Amino acid sequence: MKFLSAIILLTVAVAMADKDEDDWNFYKFQFGRKHSPKEEANRKRHFLARQRAIEKHNSENKDWQMGHNKFSDLSDDEKVSLLGAKPAIRRERLISREVAVPVLDRALPASIDYRTNKCMQPVKDQGQCGSCWSFATIVPLEFNSCNKTGTAVALSEQMLVDCDTTNHGCNGGMYDAAWQFLQGKGGAMKSSSYAYTSGPSGTAGTTCKFDSTAVGAKVASFGWVTPYPNPTAIMTNLQSDGPLPAALMVLDSLYSYSTGVYSDAACPSDVNSVNHAVVIVGYGTTTATATVPATAYWIVRNSWSTGWGLSGYFMIKRGVNMCNIESWAAYVRVV
Ligand SMILES: *[C@@H]1O[C@H](CO)[C@@H](O)[C@H](O)[C@H]1NC(C)=O
Repeated sequence: MKFLSAIILLTVAVAMADKDEDDWNFYKFQFGRKHSPKEEANRKRHFLARQRAIEKHNSENKDWQMGHNKFSDLSDDEKVSLLGAKPAIRRERLISREVAVPVLDRALPASIDYRTNKCMQPVKDQGQCGSCWSFATIVPLEFNSCNKTGTAVALSEQMLVDCDTTNHGCNGGMYDAAWQFLQGKGGAMKSSSYAYTSGPSGTAGTTCKFDSTAVGAKVASFGWVTPYPNPTAIMTNLQSDGPLPAALMVLDSLYSYSTGVYSDAACPSDVNSVNHAVVIVGYGTTTATATVPATAYWIVRNSWSTGWGLSGYFMIKRGVNMCNIESWAAYVRVV
């Protein structure tokens, strides 16, 4: 009897190891991974830890699902370099620069979704560079410039990474300081004249190739969405000013987000706990099902490529300042 259970246990262990091996090989195939033998063991270890986390989460949580993506075999250090929000300028300093939030002249719609608006450029990929802030700076400028002129325009994140010494290139930054920088510089260049290369960190200012003849949009004014955190204020500004950058705290769970309305009870509530800049592009409410009640959500644009989440976007719980997403919303207007 003992012998038999030992055999069964061994068979299960071998089958699991086989499954792990198969899953890992499939992942490598799917994401085109070719590792040196030295790297292989580490990558596989990260992948299998992620695999267990995904299985556990998806069996327990019905609000949102995890799945594998290009981040599944990354180390913690590598994942940190995918962030980069640094709210270095205390928001109080900017209040004097704020223009009044417009009074609502129409009721708020039940939902807004700018994802498919013709003024929205394709989702980008910041790569292994803490430049999230530059993408969050640029998206609303592209949108608002296009909405004003009727012509789509793609603007340069790299210009900010290289030229904006009030921020820190691949080592992080914040969109309010970047708008201020662009105001002083004369505008944001078109990305056709200054393409994104990600680039080495710590070189801000030394590689700047600013060309005023290639400016594609100019900043007129900007400010924080106030009061904060306040979901109605964000919805109001979304309607009047288009997509709004926001900062949030990224916990490990978000890297594997696949679908559903994200939330993580482990997110801190301290307002300064943010590490990543994104753009709120809409809101809505899910339809209740037998197992999950209706949930209010924000639609948020990330800069981790279209291969991540919902074609580059994610939904996150609305109305509860989840991971501080409602504390740092800001708007910008173009000349
Ligand atoms: C876009 O432009 C239209 C037409 O001028 C205007 O009615 C609308 O409010 C603008 N949308 C945003 C979000 O600025």
